[in-house]
Amino acid sequence: MSLPKRVVFIGPMGAGKSTIGRMLAKEIGYRFLDSDRVIEDRCGANIPWIFDVEGEEGFRQRESAMLEELSHEHQTVLATGGGAVMRPENHKALKHDALVVYLKTSLEQQVERTRKDRNRPLLQTDNPEEVLRNLFAIRDPLYTQLADIIMHTDRKSPRLVVRQLVNRINPRTPRHKRQIRKEGRNHV
Ligand code: S3P
Repeated sequence: MSLPKRVVFIGPMGAGKSTIGRMLAKEIGYRFLDSDRVIEDRCGANIPWIFDVEGEEGFRQRESAMLEELSHEHQTVLATGGGAVMRPENHKALKHDALVVYLKTSLEQQVERTRKDRNRPLLQTDNPEEVLRNLFAIRDPLYTQLADIIMHTDRKSPRLVVRQLVNRINPRTPRHKRQIRKEGRNHV
């Protein structure tokens, strides 16, 4: 089996898309891109500033344009923002030439991993847990619908997630193939 042209990570804030994406890229010799960081570089400003000045709508427009642009970059691993799945027009760009991996993460883990974060405008409220719960209720069906592979990340180190993923996308040995059959079609 040959490697997909692109691997695209989707999932909620705090799922580990950037950490796991960067490690996977190194492992398979692909370039790593994070759509939020590319937006920030282009714009010369960080995400909180963009939300502040242009509103969420302004950020979403930049995000859609960036996802479309990056959909043509081959041999890349792309980490996307948690809201990338919200606009139907983004779905084509996310799926284009890509193996889409949903990093599925419990609400507890999302809360824990984003607790001290000041760079996620949507979570700068009195009750970030409620925000994460509400977003997850809306977005989980979209992540699931778009995913080729659903990776459960709770109680797993990033290293283990990457190893399981490499085995999934490039099963070199019969042992790996047996493991995949045992684990089911797209849940790891
Ligand atoms: C967002 C997630 C963030 C970033 C922005 C909005 C969201 O990315 O794109 O703050 O709507 O869930 P991460 O998922 O990388 O934190």
